Amino acid sequence: MSLKRILVTGGAGFLGSHLCERLVAEGHDVICLDNFFTSQKSNVAHLLGQANFELVRHDITQPMWLEVDEIYNLACPAAPGHYQYNPIKTMKTSVLGAIHVLGMAKRCRAKVLQASTSEVYGDPEVHPQPESYRGAVNPIGPRACYDEGKRAAETLFMDYHRSNRVNVRVIRIFNTYGPRMHPFDGRVVSNFIRQALQGEDITIFGEGNQTRSFCYRDDLVEGMIRMMNGPDDFIGPVNIGNPGEFTIRELAELVLEMTGSKSRLVHEPLPADDPTQRQPDITLAKEKLGWTPTVPLREGLQKTIAWFRSIDIRHYRAPTPNY
Ligand SMILES: NC(=O)c1ccc[n+]([C@@H]2O[C@H](COP(=O)([O-])OP(=O)(O)OC[C@H]3O[C@@H](n4cnc5c(N)ncnc54)[C@H](O)[C@@H]3O)[C@@H](O)[C@H]2O)c1
Repeated sequence: MSLKRILVTGGAGFLGSHLCERLVAEGHDVICLDNFFTSQKSNVAHLLGQANFELVRHDITQPMWLEVDEIYNLACPAAPGHYQYNPIKTMKTSVLGAIHVLGMAKRCRAKVLQASTSEVYGDPEVHPQPESYRGAVNPIGPRACYDEGKRAAETLFMDYHRSNRVNVRVIRIFNTYGPRMHPFDGRVVSNFIRQALQGEDITIFGEGNQTRSFCYRDDLVEGMIRMMNGPDDFIGPVNIGNPGEFTIRELAELVLEMTGSKSRLVHEPLPADDPTQRQPDITLAKEKLGWTPTVPLREGLQKTIAWFRSIDIRHYRAPTPNY
């Protein structure tokens, strides 16, 4: 395997820090770029002593000049409470961020992968969602800054590919969880585990009958790397997620059982535009990348709960006042 210089934007985040870890371990020269909006340096502190790891504090909405062979573009707040805090900035991060990494890729002839999202499907009328489904996104709702930002980024990736022959990849990530999720990101897995461990009420939005599919972070990072290293004639978009479908109530009950918590389940009104069902069709990922998730929910939760038990929650603060 040839060693490459690789830029990971959003590299200090939950998924980015694991990706950096993998790439550093493989011997690549890794540049992690982050503005630490929703992450902290502690996520990558253990990599700082490595000669092939470099950390840059930078905001992707501003241009940057680097020489690289590959770019993984992950910089973007991903949880609703984070991306709705400053929705205009969220849109700028997706759109200007995509323009900046694509410009760099064009100049350096680098390969560039976009971390897109299942949110491009909105509240889907098709179940499970194949990549050919065009989605049902409300363009003027409170989630649009993220959903439409990511859709516009996909458009830019495909246009740079068609117009400028930039070597691109697009993956659509479905709900992913694991160690290093921000304890106050408000995402359902981190919320339930934190609430259960702290003995707080567990908040279920609506009746809890809405479903989600949960992918463990190691499976996701494996899929992302396979896509980057896959054949140049398969640029995506490709769904990467775990098709195992659970209701939110089932997840809450599993977390209660596995943490041994006595927390109560309480219900709050559903947020606007909350999708009722979400499940990836991963036929394409299986066929083209030979990728399929391997970690069952119970096993992934066990590792995630162990990590939440190991951290001192006082060292984490909510990045926005939305929680
Ligand atoms: N985890 C999931 O379930 C999931 C699902 C779909 C898509 N994704 C995508 O994967 C990527 C990583 O998500 P994550 O779960 O690790 O979230 P995260 O919030 O932990 O990571 C995002 C990182 O980007 C950084 N960032 C945000 N705005 C930035 C900016 N303007 N400039 C530089 N850095 C910036 C944050 O500080 C953070 O370190 C995101 O693009 C997200 O949209 C994640």
